[in-house]
Amino acid sequence: MLSEVNTSLLPYNTFGFDVQATELIKIENKEQLVNLYENGFFKSPFRVISGGSNLLLTQNIQEPILLIRIPGITQKEETDGYVLIEFGAGENWHATVLHCVKNQFFGIENMSLIPGCIGAAPIQNIGAYGTELKDVFHSLSAYNIQTGKFENFDLQQCQFGYRDSFFKQQGKGKYIITSVTLKLSKIAKINTQYGDIQNALIQKNITNPTIKDVSDAVIEIRKSKLPDPAILGNSGSFFKNPVIEKSLAEKIQANHPDLKIFPVSDEWVKIPAAWLIEKSGWKGHKRSHVGVHEKQALVLVHYGGGKGSEIQQLATEIQTDVANKFNVHLEFEVNIW
Ligand code: EPU
Repeated sequence: MLSEVNTSLLPYNTFGFDVQATELIKIENKEQLVNLYENGFFKSPFRVISGGSNLLLTQNIQEPILLIRIPGITQKEETDGYVLIEFGAGENWHATVLHCVKNQFFGIENMSLIPGCIGAAPIQNIGAYGTELKDVFHSLSAYNIQTGKFENFDLQQCQFGYRDSFFKQQGKGKYIITSVTLKLSKIAKINTQYGDIQNALIQKNITNPTIKDVSDAVIEIRKSKLPDPAILGNSGSFFKNPVIEKSLAEKIQANHPDLKIFPVSDEWVKIPAAWLIEKSGWKGHKRSHVGVHEKQALVLVHYGGGKGSEIQQLATEIQTDVANKFNVHLEFEVNIW
């Protein structure tokens, strides 16, 4: 088993914070988890890192960390209409998307270029450009650290919501996801409803887009708005888009007609956190090592040489300011350690 002692977590978080881990254990197969269970490992506190793309490290980590790197792409079932593919939790998400695009398996092309690994995708039900993981999700396998048994979860059991699932709620800290099975369509199903995609395709004079055209358009849009973590530390959207009472949204809209409102139910609506942050004057804000991305107000960035606590401080200030100005609470999407 690959275990490193007193090692830097710099390579394992896309914000690029250099904190120390007392012990980092790389998990490359399911049997390792069983061995750890048999040795009583799960009786003491520990943590799990997957792609490290939704993680803010504010301190050195004393508890042992499991770095999930279980590989594997296995086609489990195929009909004329769909394929079921099981992906090891450690597979890179974007590489998976490209694999599906190449094979004409429809369903995740709108989620091109999302950083991270497959195993973390169900935890917050990742999504972009009109598609969410739940739309293509078939099932997953997870190790129950209390019983030492592997369990299967279907769509319903995962209780997916907007950037939410069972694994962020009741299941939190109780399971380690080892593989995820996706159900992808072999019949062309293109979703370009999301405004930005349409525009990107129109600009390229594409009227009948292929799966590759859509993936390329999404990659282009993301590259134009979202910073590349390899160049500028970030964890994508730092906040969730808040779901608020329709009456409050309409009150805000009365003063700000440019506010976009997305219906969630009769009483509830979702509004863009990026809009609230921008209107509060934070877009492009810079202070020593950290700031708010100039092209997307939802993304907090680390210019290098800083500390996670500086991002946390900035995020808290934004939260307070938005609450004071709009009476809306912004919830963090990112996990803080
Ligand atoms: N907007 C602003 N200012 C900005 C950016 C956006 O006012 O600086 C407003 C605009 O009105 C825009 C609206 O916000 O129409 C929505 O913006 P955008 O389409 O860029 O999406 P988002 O709501 O900011 C969400 C996801 C992203 C995902 C995009 C595209 C969340 C928390 N974020 O962002 O996911 O890529 O939609 O589908 O739901 C991530 O989770 O890390 C992530 C990047």
